[in-house]
Amino acid sequence: MNPFDHQTPVPGIQHIIAVGSGKGGVGKSTVAANLSVALRSLGKQVGLLDTDIYGPSVPRLFGVLGTKPAVNEKGQLVPIVRYGVKLMSMGFLIEEDSAVIWRGPMLFKAMDQFFKDVDWGHLDYLIVDLPPGTGDVALTLAQKVPLHGGIVICTPQNLALMDAKKAIDMFEKIKIPLLGVVENMAFMKIPPSGLSQNEQTDKIQLFPKGELDSFLDSRKISKLAQIPFHPHVALTSEAGIPIVESQPQSDEGQIFKKIAEDLVKKMGAS
Ligand SMILES: Nc1ncnc2c1ncn2[C@@H]1O[C@H](COP(=O)(O)OP(=O)(O)OP(=O)(O)O)[C@@H](O)[C@H]1O
Ligand SMILES: [Mg+2]
Repeated sequence: MNPFDHQTPVPGIQHIIAVGSGKGGVGKSTVAANLSVALRSLGKQVGLLDTDIYGPSVPRLFGVLGTKPAVNEKGQLVPIVRYGVKLMSMGFLIEEDSAVIWRGPMLFKAMDQFFKDVDWGHLDYLIVDLPPGTGDVALTLAQKVPLHGGIVICTPQNLALMDAKKAIDMFEKIKIPLLGVVENMAFMKIPPSGLSQNEQTDKIQLFPKGELDSFLDSRKISKLAQIPFHPHVALTSEAGIPIVESQPQSDEGQIFKKIAEDLVKKMGAS
């Protein structure tokens, strides 16, 4: 029997897109958060599910740390709505600094509940922020949920590419179409635009450029975007207002918007 036979569509949710990477700290949550807000700004109904049970970051990225979701009359958790995006995260259910040890069956159940026991309502897009790596959570999720596509985040250096390849292979193995790769922190403009009157900028390579481009070419995988490193991306995340919300006209805000527009084109008009 095909292990994925039991996948059934989640009623009311049109497209479920996972954002993953092999390596930690490359910007998955940043991209997932900004992509969600950008899709919302295009008039879509959007949910963001943070499946990072060890280090959930969605509550902080959206400035709703410490908020507890309500329970509806059917006993389902009601997502927290911020900037028009419906949010659910393990971070709303456990204390930020508590260490939960997850065992396989518990994990399976938690993932299941994130879909069945959350009152998502109608969504055009549910963006799923995966934890780093290609381990249990990612695999459990892919087995439980009919994902429509995966996006892999990678930084330029070969050390990150090595791990990104594992994430790409994981999506392939579990038969989830890879929508493409986002190269984050691709370079930094000096001085960063918006921080100086002088718009004459140089680009510096924060991470050495590796073989990402030739790898993507050889596998015919598209690069969805190149996002520069810019302090205001990190600052707005710290402040709990993703850059697409706080500075939509910035270069980075526009790049996230373009990723959202391309995604909508690719997934159809819905
Ligand atoms: N383009 C960028 N410019 C500046 N800072 C960035 C950029 N992308 C991400 N960051 C910062 O890098 C750090 C890591 O980003 P983020 O938390 O999104 O990574 P992650 O891949 O989700 O990490 P984890 O593997 O822990 O889940 C954060 O402080 C974030 O604000
Ligand atoms: Mg993260």
